[in-house]
Amino acid sequence: MKKRSILSLAAAGVALTGVVFSLQPVAAPVPVQNANSKVERGAYLVNIMACNDCHTPWKMRPQGPEPDMTRMLSGHPQDMVMPAVARQKGPWEWVGAGTNTAFSGAWGVSFTANLTPDPETGLGKWTDETFIRALRTGRHEGQGRPILPPMPYPMYRNATDEDLRAVFAFLQSIPAIRNRVPQPIDPPESE
Ligand code: HEC
Repeated sequence: MKKRSILSLAAAGVALTGVVFSLQPVAAPVPVQNANSKVERGAYLVNIMACNDCHTPWKMRPQGPEPDMTRMLSGHPQDMVMPAVARQKGPWEWVGAGTNTAFSGAWGVSFTANLTPDPETGLGKWTDETFIRALRTGRHEGQGRPILPPMPYPMYRNATDEDLRAVFAFLQSIPAIRNRVPQPIDPPESE
């Protein structure tokens, strides 16, 4: 990780935003009780910005894979331990889990974060300032290591503060799911 610059990770993130799948229409997030307009706007934005594509584990249905909304936005399932994967050399540069929550490529292995308000394993202790800083800077929790592909923060960073606050308000309003997502794995030193 140390060897890789934020810029190259950002570039990889831009390139990989094509990862967003659309095999099946994604169900709209569950209706929110007592929703105010900010939370409603956030629900709308989360839907069209495709957060469920990567942060909700996909399951196979007879008609094809679709996000399992009983695990809405809870990230890579903690009990789904991924085996080691050989690094892909072009033209197939990266691989993804069937859940669309784990990705292996030049950056190592990344697992999508738990965006639910669970205080220990999700965003329960984040403020909207932490959220905005993370998406604007591309730094973990707004100050740590670079956020890895394919999280499309290079696009989301262009959203207005108002829209990002609405997204965060919606995320804080959804059911908390306890799910401890694994830490990312660095690429082998030899690469
Ligand atoms: C194409 C897949 C993809 C999409 C779409 C996506 N994410 Fe992510 N997201 C990821 C991955 C992978 C990570 C883990 C990155 C890491 O560990 O560095 C992540 C991490 C995050 C994090 C944690 C950042 C941190 O501080 O470590 C937040 C917050 C987040 N995503 C929010 C969102 C929101 C909100 C949306 C929709 C507006 C969204 N993501 C859409 C893949 C995606």
